[in-house]
This record gives sequence, structure tokens and C-alpha cells, in this order.
Amino acid sequence: MIDYHFNKEKGCPLKLFTPGPIQVPDRVLEALARPNDTHRSEAYEEMHQIAVEGLKKLLYTENECFIMTCSATGIMEACVRNLLDKDEKGLFFSIGAFGDRWYNVGLDNGKNAIKSSVEWGMALKPEFVKEILSKDKYSVVFLQSNETSTGVYNPIYEIVPIIKDYGALVCVDATSSMAGVKIEVDKLEIDVCLASVQKCLALPPGLAVCSVSEKALEKTKTVKNRGHYFDFLTYLKKNKSHQTPNTPSIPQIRGLIVQLDYILKEEGLEKRFERHERLGKRTRMWARDMALEMFSERNYESNTVSTMKNTLQIECAEMVQKLLLKGYRITNGYGPLANKTFRIGHMGEIQLKDLEEMLKVLTDIIADLRLEKLNQNK
Ligand SMILES: Cc1ncc(COP(=O)(O)O)c(C=O)c1O
Repeated sequence: MIDYHFNKEKGCPLKLFTPGPIQVPDRVLEALARPNDTHRSEAYEEMHQIAVEGLKKLLYTENECFIMTCSATGIMEACVRNLLDKDEKGLFFSIGAFGDRWYNVGLDNGKNAIKSSVEWGMALKPEFVKEILSKDKYSVVFLQSNETSTGVYNPIYEIVPIIKDYGALVCVDATSSMAGVKIEVDKLEIDVCLASVQKCLALPPGLAVCSVSEKALEKTKTVKNRGHYFDFLTYLKKNKSHQTPNTPSIPQIRGLIVQLDYILKEEGLEKRFERHERLGKRTRMWARDMALEMFSERNYESNTVSTMKNTLQIECAEMVQKLLLKGYRITNGYGPLANKTFRIGHMGEIQLKDLEEMLKVLTDIIADLRLEKLNQNK
């Protein structure tokens, strides 16, 4: 059997400094391996209820929280299908690859999808949002909090209230920030806040979660052709009896409970957010010391994933491979940004000392690569 998390040279488990999937803590791995009852049993209902209550605390909300057996893109599609009717326009703000993806999900579902983009590396600004919204009427607005491809964090506390003032529903893709950055759903009146669990929640991939507002659920009742698997109303009905409409990934829900319990009761939300902030700052400090420019606009850098410009002209794929042999995985730039940028994920259970340890090794690898290049150019 292949052990994917095994580093051959050192004989130790691989440490993932990726923007997801990320390192899964042992407590979750143990929970996943435990026996389960069926998804129509009382034992499951108890689990489901605990998980939903935990999600509400994590998101500072009283809204319904759904657990869906899919990745985040599934809930992105659910938002489009449940909230946007045929004769309405949906506005998709895009600041990178995942904003583009949501827009494409809109198009692929035959919706009247309008995209409004900024240059990759930049954040959405209130003036820009106001300008776009003042030009047309949109029923639903879709945006990322954290754009994982560019390492930019949108100022959602400034933007979301503006969108609400224009009367649109707001869906926030918090895939790479939920449980790493504070997002107060009720305070901001976010209608749907979604994420998959393989990022800051540090679970293996295969499950996604969201909060859905009363207003969004009322709207759903009026939208036709919502599809079957992702219909919010069937999730709502089943949520009332602490179940899901179809067979969920039960072991992962057990893992989710373990993580939520740890986050809420052991680490504490504020401490978790502060830790992610420190990880982000430390990575940016390292980048500055290495004369690596950030790809993300200043003051809008993500605290869960750092995207650096390849200002040192290193072969990023080679750097990633060399680091892999030392037991760590970071990531090349996303899609068209490959080799122009590279990314270091610092989310989930990564501690400052883990980051320091990896950065030290990465510094040496970069020095070696630069030296090799110098010698070649002689
Ligand atoms: C911001 C963002 N949105 C959506 C997705 C898609 O997530 P999934 O692969 O869980 O569907 C990702 C994945 O990296 C992401 O980072």
C-alpha cells in the first residue's frame, strides 16, 4: 500500500504547508477510524446536532447550518441553483481563480451570471463595489473572503454591508478562511457562508459546510429548478430532525465534532484567529528578509495562505521537489501563476515553531538553487 504522507529520505511523515488539503491531526484520524451507526440512527442524530451547534458557534450565527457530503464547489453550485432565479442577475466578484470558478458555475447552470473582476493580486475595495452595484440590479452577489490563488483577503467587513444596502443576498466562499479568520455571519448578515473542511478545519477532504440565512431560505422557496442533491429545502427539512437528506460521510462528521470541540473548547476561537495572524505575519516577514515580494496587495494579505512573487527567478517546481525530500510540501503558484508565484499554506493546526522549522529548510534550499544558477551562468 502506498503511504502518501511518508517522506522516504527521512522516514518521517510529510508535513503539509499547503492551502488544502492540509495536515490532519491524530485526534481526527482516530475519530475517523471509529465504528459508526447508520445515518438514520439516534446516535447519528446526536452527532449531527453537536456538529451543527459547533458550526453555529464557529460562525457566530443563529442561522441554519448544513453539512453536505461534497467539496466546497458543491455548495457554490447549491448557492447558484437555490438562490438565483431565471429572470434575475447574479453578480460574481472575482479577484482570482476561485472567483472565476464561481462565475463559471453560474454560467454552467444557465444562470444570468455577470462577472466583475479586479487584477489578480488586488482586493475588492468599497468604492469599486459601490460603483458596480450602482449600475444594475443584482439579486445575489457572490464573493470570496480569502482568494486562495492570490493570497488576498477581501475586506468583507467593509464590503458586505454595502452589498446588503443594495438589497442583494450575499454568498461568501470562506473555503480557505473559515476557522482560521473571524467571520461573524449574523453581524454581517451573510446569507450563505460556506467552506470545505480540508482547509482551516484540518479534516480530510470530502465534506463541506455552510450557514444559510432565513432570508435565503425564504428566497429558495420561490426559485424553480433547484436540482435534487443540493436543494436547500430538503436540507432544511432534514436538519430539523438532525439528519441529512442522503447518506452523509459519517466518519468525517465525527471528525468535524472532534475538531470543533478542540477549536471551541481547547484552543479557543480568538486564540486560533490570533495564531493564524501570527503565522501570516511571520511568513511575510520571512518573504521580506528573502527579498521575495508578496503577490498580494499590501494590507490585504491573507493570514492563511501566502502567495509570493518569484522575484528570485527560482525554478518553483524544483524548489517544491527539493523541499519535499526534506519532508515538507509547499505549493507552486495556482494555474497561470505557476512559477511566477509560489504559495505557503499556514492554516489548520500549524504552530509557529512548525513554520519556523520549515522556513529554515526552505531558506537553505533557495540558497542552494541560487548558487547552482550562479555557477551555471559562469
Ligand atoms: C477559495 C476557494 N474556493 C473554492 C475552492 C474549491 O474547493 P473544493 O475543492 O473543496 O471544491 C477552493 C479550493 O482550494 C478555494 O480555495
